[in-house]
Formats: sequence, C-alpha cells, structure tokens
Amino acid sequence: MSSGCSGLSRVLVAVATALVSASSSCPQAWGPPGVQYGQPGRSVKLCCPGVTAGDPVSWFRDGEPRLLQGPDSGLGHELVLTQADSTDEGTYICQTLDGALGGTVTLQLGYPPARPVVSCQAADYENFSCTWSPSQISGLPTRYLTSYRKKTVLGADSQRRSPSTGPWPCPQDPLGAARCVVHGAEFWSQYRINVTEVNPLGTSTRLLDVSLQSILRPDPPQGLRVESVPGFPRRLRASWTYPASWPRQPHFLLKFRLQYRPAQHPAWSTVEPAGLEEMITDAVAGLPHAVRVSARDFLDAGTWSTWSPEAWGTPSTDHRDSVEQVAVLASLGILSFLGLMAGALALGLWLRMRRGGKDGSPKPGFLAPVIPVDRRPGAPNL
Ligand SMILES: *[C@@H]1O[C@H](CO)[C@@H](O)[C@H](O)[C@H]1NC(C)=O
Ligand SMILES: *[C@@H]1O[C@H](CO)[C@@H](O)[C@H](O)[C@H]1NC(C)=O
Repeated sequence: MSSGCSGLSRVLVAVATALVSASSSCPQAWGPPGVQYGQPGRSVKLCCPGVTAGDPVSWFRDGEPRLLQGPDSGLGHELVLTQADSTDEGTYICQTLDGALGGTVTLQLGYPPARPVVSCQAADYENFSCTWSPSQISGLPTRYLTSYRKKTVLGADSQRRSPSTGPWPCPQDPLGAARCVVHGAEFWSQYRINVTEVNPLGTSTRLLDVSLQSILRPDPPQGLRVESVPGFPRRLRASWTYPASWPRQPHFLLKFRLQYRPAQHPAWSTVEPAGLEEMITDAVAGLPHAVRVSARDFLDAGTWSTWSPEAWGTPSTDHRDSVEQVAVLASLGILSFLGLMAGALALGLWLRMRRGGKDGSPKPGFLAPVIPVDRRPGAPNL
C-alpha cells in the first residue's frame, strides 16, 4: 500500500518538475533569439532566460551599475516596466543572487499587427496573384501566412449550399515578396484569400473574396506596328499580337480596342477591330499618327488591359498615278530587256548556222539526204 502511495507521489513530483522546467525558459517569441517585445505606452514584462521561473533575480541595464529591480521585488524572474517608451529599448542583464545563472535580454518596442491591405489580380485565365501591404507599420519583425479556400459556384440556386474546400497554402514566390500566386484556378469559382500578418505581439487576418472572372485583366497587346499603305495617303495599317502571358485557346480569346490620333491632336479616335489588325482609312495625309491598343477577355470578363506603348506611322505620300507610272516603267524595262535577250539569241543562232554552212561538212543523216544524188563524187556529170 505504502509502496503504491510513494510510487504515485514520485510520478506527481516528476510531473511537477516537468511543468516547472517547461515554464522556466522564457517563451520564445518569433524573431531573433534574445529579443523580447513590447508596445509603447503599455506595461512590458521581461523574462530572465536561463533561470527557473519564480527564482529571484537582479536586473540591470547593460553598462549601468544601478540596480533596476532587486531580488526582493516579489516578481521572481520577471522585470516589469510600466508604460514602456523608447528610452526603455535596449539590452538588460539579469542574474540570480549567487551570480551563477542569468542572461541578457534586448527589448524592442512596436505594435501588434493590423489587418493588411490585400488585392488580387489575374493576367491570364488560369492563375492569379495577390499582393499585400501593411495597413500600419508595426516596427517589428513581420511575416505573412497566406492561404485560400475555394467555393465552386454551381448555379444561382445552389450557391449558398456549395461547400468550400481547403484551405490550401497560397505559395509566396519568392519568399518575402509580399505576393502569392494561385496556380490552376477555376474561372467560375469563388476564392477566399486569407492573408494573416504575424509579429511577436500577435496576428491579424484579412479575408478577401475574389473570382478570376472579375479580377481578370490581360496584359496589353504586344508587337504593335503601324505601316503606311503605298498609294493611299489616308490609310494606315496597324497590326499586333496577343500578350505573351495569354496563351490562345478557343474558349479564352481576347478582343481589342484601338485608338489613333494625328500628332498634336489631343483627341483619340477609337475603333474595335475584329482581329489582330486594323486598316485606318481616315488618317490625315502627311501627318505622323500615334496608335495604341488594349485587350480584354472576349466575353467581357474583368476589365480592359492598360494601353500598349504607342507606335507611330505616317501615311504614304505617294499618289496612285505615280505608283502606276512606276509600275508601267518597270514593266517597260522588263519588256525591253526581254526583247534584247530575244534579239541576242536570234543573232547567235544565225551566226552559228552561217558558220555551219561555211565549214561545208554536213552531218551524216541530217544534211546528207538533201544533197542531190547527181552531185555525188564519181557520178557522171550530165
Ligand atoms: C498558369 O501558370 C502556369 C505556371 O506558371 C503556366 O504554365 C500556365 O501557362 C499559366 N496559364 C495560363 C493560361 O497562362
Ligand atoms: C487565416 O489564416 C490563419 C493563419 O494560417 C489562421 O490561423 C486562421 O484561422 C485563418 N482564418 C480563416 C477565417 O480561415
């Protein structure tokens, strides 16, 4: 019986010891080691590292011999600073009565996290990114936890009942860039983004609901070119390509908006081209024109892209007549060249035939039958 009792008490002692040793080390806030944190104007408790909780210690400011708080304060291993202010920031030293144990603590003051400002954007129909910034500077080491949940919208009626899935992490890439990316998002689903600001004084969460189709904003079109059209002094031909960030797919096409204006004219003319080029037919002859394009999902999801960089072009100053003259001259030139060639060929043939006649050596089987029989050598001459 007694042995059973002592066994139990031994277990209890072991548990108590474990509890004490667990609470003896100061709670390590997230951040660099040896630094403890507090808020200006509030009371701050510093904890002496390396001593058992409740052990009386003496506290000093580093480099100052004056005792800040003695071992008889009744506060054990903690130092209490009421209404901390910036002069309290710095390094403190604590030690037990015998001086055998103790350590140093650095106090840094700042504010708890505030809900960050978050916005999300998508430049294609599969991926979106969210960026954030602090709504208040805490002055403390800060990190952000980012995750999202997805709610598939099946239809207007079932919207309320459709369950959300997740949370999944929204990967921050690169770490510390104040940006995370959701890859492979569904165009028609709702996403709830959770950006939680964390610092040694606490956490604060901002939730933001987004859907790809509402935040979609393509990058501006690329490769804008403006060319004159020879013979048409009021025409300019503009062409461009899809932005590289928007892979072309039959279900996700872009539509475009094009603006142009002559140099020094303030107002743009706007057209909505059908494809990847546009013929401007009312340009001002002789003046350079600025042209720019923007893009949007062809079913009007999201918003228009920003404008592309301007490209410039001046309509051709040639007139149609002169173009035709050039064409006629060119064809005349080709004709006379052909005529010369033909003449030279004929002359060559003629010369060759004449030389063939002079040699008087007829080729057998070709000229031979033409030679009259009575001219053969040895034939009687009549
Ligand atoms: C989404 O991102 C992935 C990975 O970066 C990329 O391979 C894919 O092409 C993107 N989707 C679209 C539609 O751009
Ligand atoms: C937001 O994220 C934080 C940190 O991961 C988490 O503790 C919190 O529960 C999340 N809040 C919601 C509403 O999902």
